[in-house]
Amino acid sequence: MKLESLSVEILQALDTVLGGFDGALVIDAKGNIVVCTENYANAVHKPKQELLGKYVLEVFPNSKLLEVINTGRPIYIDLWNTGYETVFVSRYPITSEGKIIGAIGLSVFRYLDEAKRFAQWVSNMNQELKYYKSQLLKLSGARYSFDTILGNSGAILTAKNSALHMVKAPTPVLILGETGTGKELFAHAVHQAGPRRDRPFIRVNCASIPENLVESELFGYEEGAFSGARKGGKPGKFELANGGTIFLDEINELPYGVQAKLLRVLQEGEVDHVGGTELSYVDVRVLSATSADLTQLIREKRFREDLYYRIGAFQLMVPPLRDRREDIPLLCEHFINFSNCELGTSVEAVSGEVLEAFSGHHWPGNVRELRNVIQRCCLVAGSGSIRVDHLPPGFATMLASDTWPDENLESIVLKAEKEQIQKVLNQVAGNRNKAAQVLGVNRTQLYRKMKKHGLL
Ligand SMILES: Nc1ncnc2c1ncn2[C@@H]1O[C@H](COP(=O)(O)OP(=O)(O)OP(=O)(O)O)[C@@H](O)[C@H]1O
Ligand SMILES: [Mg+2]
Repeated sequence: MKLESLSVEILQALDTVLGGFDGALVIDAKGNIVVCTENYANAVHKPKQELLGKYVLEVFPNSKLLEVINTGRPIYIDLWNTGYETVFVSRYPITSEGKIIGAIGLSVFRYLDEAKRFAQWVSNMNQELKYYKSQLLKLSGARYSFDTILGNSGAILTAKNSALHMVKAPTPVLILGETGTGKELFAHAVHQAGPRRDRPFIRVNCASIPENLVESELFGYEEGAFSGARKGGKPGKFELANGGTIFLDEINELPYGVQAKLLRVLQEGEVDHVGGTELSYVDVRVLSATSADLTQLIREKRFREDLYYRIGAFQLMVPPLRDRREDIPLLCEHFINFSNCELGTSVEAVSGEVLEAFSGHHWPGNVRELRNVIQRCCLVAGSGSIRVDHLPPGFATMLASDTWPDENLESIVLKAEKEQIQKVLNQVAGNRNKAAQVLGVNRTQLYRKMKKHGLL
């Protein structure tokens, strides 16, 4: 059947039936108007006879009826400006024997005020949603790229090169390296350089979440899942990262019980909310990082071996600073510039003597330690060059000490950590919130470290 070949009587009958609507317009497969009700003609302030038989775009250049014919899909409750007012219109394809033979637009002119208010409300909500989405992306998105990972040493170039090879695939990456080497920087860069760059980058520090909340933070929960659970439930980090990347920092701190659930997400993409019954599916690339020896944790039955093989399909080793000492001058320059901007100082360079001292230092805290030392020196020096007497006192004694090479690195780090925590706790009269702030860790991390060192 073809609409254009219907008799005048049938078209008139159609017109009568459709006359009951606020407004109706029917076009045939070629886009010519075959029915235009009186109400419709009145709303567009045009004589009906002038519209009938015309090509729809000739009289209504913004009409979407042809789009409906081309796609075969209806367009529901759309706003359309008649040239006099904005009305609601729904458009549907007309089919006969499986073929699209035309399209109909049904307009609603009544109850417009209420409908407009509703439309305005939806539009405002949309604007707000768009704003928060962009803010979320800004806050949670990756901030660094490969260009911000400084260094020309063979060690760092090798690491950057192997990271570049891991950029495209959706395979998990385990980033290994001592504390402060730049693992987080690499995670950001891998996301930023890959096909998911416009999707969320969600960072989770597994050590900072209280153990009993890790599961609900990662996988979300349903309303009433536990006392204190938010009304309406809460999506987990995996859902927030859907389509993008999740970065599980300090993955060695993930409670053993939660590791099995993580394995399921990695294997099947299945996420189930705490207290929920239904599974949801996510597509998330998993990057993780640790400075701990996971193989040792596996031997101690604190980390699942199967999970280790999953998260570590690609492994990326970030070298310690002492293995790339030739990068120290460049990093110094970078951190001096940074400190000048942040702290308002006008330091120009580090003296040759200090550079020499730096190149002999062990750098247990790696690039972060260098950054902190430079920042502090900038504050002390204020301007000009950084001299040896600007260095922190502990640093100078460490330089003089010849015990470094003989002692085991881990015990040195542990000792220094314990001493520093004790010192800060004394300074802040035991106020843990303040101590955590000064030490640049969060409360949970501080608590764990204090426990580890027997300071509780
Ligand atoms: N190659 C680099 N170029 C510039 N800045 C760097 C580089 N590597 C590290 N940094 C800086 O050093 C600091 C520590 O880096 P980051 O947080 O990535 O270390 P990490 O390996 O994740 O440490 P942790 O194991 O303690 O979490 C950050 O301020 C980072 O910007
Ligand atoms: Mg880190």
